[in-house]
Amino acid sequence: MFSNFSNIFPNQDRKDSIDMLMKEQVPHDKSHTLSLSQEGYLFIKNRIDQYHSNLFEVHLLGQKVICMSGEEASRVFYDSERFQRNGAAPNRVQKTLFGVNAIQTMDGEAHIQRKHLFMSLMTPTHEKRLAELTMEKWQASINEWKGAEKVVLFDEAKNILCWTACHWAGVPLSESEISHRAEDFSAMVDAFGAVGPRHWKGRIARTRAEEWIRGVIEDVRSGKLNTEKDSALYAMAFHRELDGRQLDTQMAAVELINILRPIVAISTFITFTALALHRHSECKEKLLSGHSNDLEMFVEEVRRYYPFTPFLGAIVRKDFIWNQCEFKEGTLVLLDIYGTNHDSRIWENPYEFRPERFKERNINLFDFIPQGGGDPAKSHRCPGEGITVEIMKTSLDFLVNKIEFEVPDQDLSYSLTRIPTLPKSGFVMSNIRRK
Ligand code: HEM
Repeated sequence: MFSNFSNIFPNQDRKDSIDMLMKEQVPHDKSHTLSLSQEGYLFIKNRIDQYHSNLFEVHLLGQKVICMSGEEASRVFYDSERFQRNGAAPNRVQKTLFGVNAIQTMDGEAHIQRKHLFMSLMTPTHEKRLAELTMEKWQASINEWKGAEKVVLFDEAKNILCWTACHWAGVPLSESEISHRAEDFSAMVDAFGAVGPRHWKGRIARTRAEEWIRGVIEDVRSGKLNTEKDSALYAMAFHRELDGRQLDTQMAAVELINILRPIVAISTFITFTALALHRHSECKEKLLSGHSNDLEMFVEEVRRYYPFTPFLGAIVRKDFIWNQCEFKEGTLVLLDIYGTNHDSRIWENPYEFRPERFKERNINLFDFIPQGGGDPAKSHRCPGEGITVEIMKTSLDFLVNKIEFEVPDQDLSYSLTRIPTLPKSGFVMSNIRRK
């Protein structure tokens, strides 16, 4: 009887069988949104490991979500034919971390054109300049630390990078402003995984920063403030869109903040760099030479090993099937960043801190993704990786080769459920001397 039925509706029958097969193959997880906040960085990885699958489906914040992890998943996620960013970032993230309607939410030609603007500021010359300014400011700080009972590295790094970012970008910043501007940039980053007071602190910080930077953009446009033609401030103030028009003042401010804020956020990676140095003193010998390759391998391992970005979101642009899973148009998909950087199919003993693993790595745009994957010029991958690596290298060189210090007793643990996370003490140093 069933075979007769299938003769009458052969296609329908085939479709039903495929549906059945997919339902069996794709794990449906029964967790709630609460599990996401309880498990934080490990939410996706825990389930990927449990189901022995590249992906699973789950209901989060009242909608079906597909979570996926690993190199192949990352390749699919960065296929712009299949995914779009418009509609992926919740309002609360746009009002704190990104800025409303910023580059992170754009697609297609308009995105590529805006991305070109960012990429033009991320050249080796700019990276070198930023690294030099960072070292200059670290060196100058040694005198200020003299006699201080303790210094919290995270706080120092935020201030130093805020000064560096503004100085490099052409944004005027007086000495007395540095710490509260740095605090605002940092609060925007701290808000991205938060609800309640932390979220509101981030929103207020963004409102204040946008007002400040809008004023700076207006001053440059009116000629009241002069800036170099190759500066980030000039580029944002005078950039022209596809239709030939300048960015409105608000959008120019949002995008300039999209450069200043993440430079300040490198302070998190610098704090983890100091922690790694403290925990793995066996690595220090090699770093004493200050050789660029050794510094680079160490900071790459910091970017892989320690948690910062947990996952990224995108929306399915049109229906497709991958890994026996139906990706339906409009579905939210999360790519596991932390899990992919700890995937044992990619990394041997992923929970060991081993800078040498970066010695002879083949370049692959999809398996090492602390700042996203794909080609940065054509996808949403972070344009600031070169800057991040150079600032981290120079800061590591400073910690190893320019100063001596002690690490007093403190709580250096970091939570994997708080997003974003940091060693609890912020890395306290004492008795700092110039080498
Ligand atoms: C603290 C170190 C940093 C981390 C962990 C980080 C992480 C990321 C991640 C995960 C993305 C999203 C990739 C995606 O959506 O596919 C991103 C995008 C972006 N990052 Fe970074 N980033 C860092 C530093 C920087 C720096 C130094 C800059 C600029 C100076 C920068 C500017 C941007 C911009 C403009 C985007 C949006 C790109 C787009 O949507 O096309 N980031 N970053």
